[in-house]
Amino acid sequence: MTTSKAALFPPEIEAYRERIDAQLDRYSQFDSDCPDHLCEAIRYCLLAPGKRIRPLLVLTAAKICGGTIENALPAACAVEMIHNYSLIHDDLPAMDDDELRRGRPTCHIKFDEATAILAGDALIPLAFEVIARDIKPAEVANQCVGVLARAAGPSQLVGGQADDLNLQFAPADVESLEKIHRRKTGALLAVSLEMGALSAQATPEQRVSLVNYGKHLGLAFQIVDDLLDLRGSQAKMGKKTGKDADLGKQTYPSVIGEESSVLRAQEMADKAIDSLKPFKDAATALEFLARFVVGRTH
Ligand code: IPE
Ligand code: IPE
Ligand code: MG
Ligand code: MG
Ligand code: MG
Repeated sequence: MTTSKAALFPPEIEAYRERIDAQLDRYSQFDSDCPDHLCEAIRYCLLAPGKRIRPLLVLTAAKICGGTIENALPAACAVEMIHNYSLIHDDLPAMDDDELRRGRPTCHIKFDEATAILAGDALIPLAFEVIARDIKPAEVANQCVGVLARAAGPSQLVGGQADDLNLQFAPADVESLEKIHRRKTGALLAVSLEMGALSAQATPEQRVSLVNYGKHLGLAFQIVDDLLDLRGSQAKMGKKTGKDADLGKQTYPSVIGEESSVLRAQEMADKAIDSLKPFKDAATALEFLARFVVGRTH
């Protein structure tokens, strides 16, 4: 498992990653009313070595729209908090029942199930608290709260997760699979770009281009996650692989085949990059991240 300290990205993006990690650390130091074991569980998960793709997308989007990293950082941390809660709950016995995440025991294994549920619960309001308090002006904070709430909500992330669990063994066609991927994974990636644009008070055209990039990238991201479950290395991924196939779960490779899935992910990354045309040469970091998502090994 690659740790957050190892360089995954070019220096400019690595520098963002360090700022994200430092701010997540600050945001997860709670007052004495938060029980110690809950604080420990939240920090165990939130500060674990993830790739930080979503917060990096927030900061990179803000930057190319002329915004500051400082004003985008609360939104970057907020989306990582929502992502982390979704991972903690995704790993619970009632959901995917996984014991390994980011190269470490999952939250409910390291602590217990109730603590894992509560650590996940706590990250949701914390995400909205930091946006509401720290993004300026208040009108922009309000817009970010609205779009993040929708992306994390019943019709998007949670709805996608619910359909993923309910339909995972039903015969699937590519459209229904795509509908699940778009919501359970794509929504949070797309809203990362959107919040980056909002925090920079981007033009409507810039915002639309970035959201289109995010939607295509989101689909590519989950197709690659499905492919890596099939053929990735558990040691590199830091999570159990081979599970989807063992369970007979409907995934991109099981429905359209491995080769077509690779091509589809590449096609989505190309479309994502096409959406960046209005930014001309300023979009190299986002182009890099799109290529990274399809070429990644973990
Ligand atoms: C894993 O997300 C869950 C999916 C949505 C497929 P990541 O692959 O971004 O996980 P971390 O944050 O790097 O651990
Ligand atoms: C989960 O998809 C997406 C989330 C919203 C957490 P998976 O269940 O395939 O993610 P992994 O493989 O456990 O990271
Ligand atoms: Mg799952
Ligand atoms: Mg899972
Ligand atoms: Mg997976």
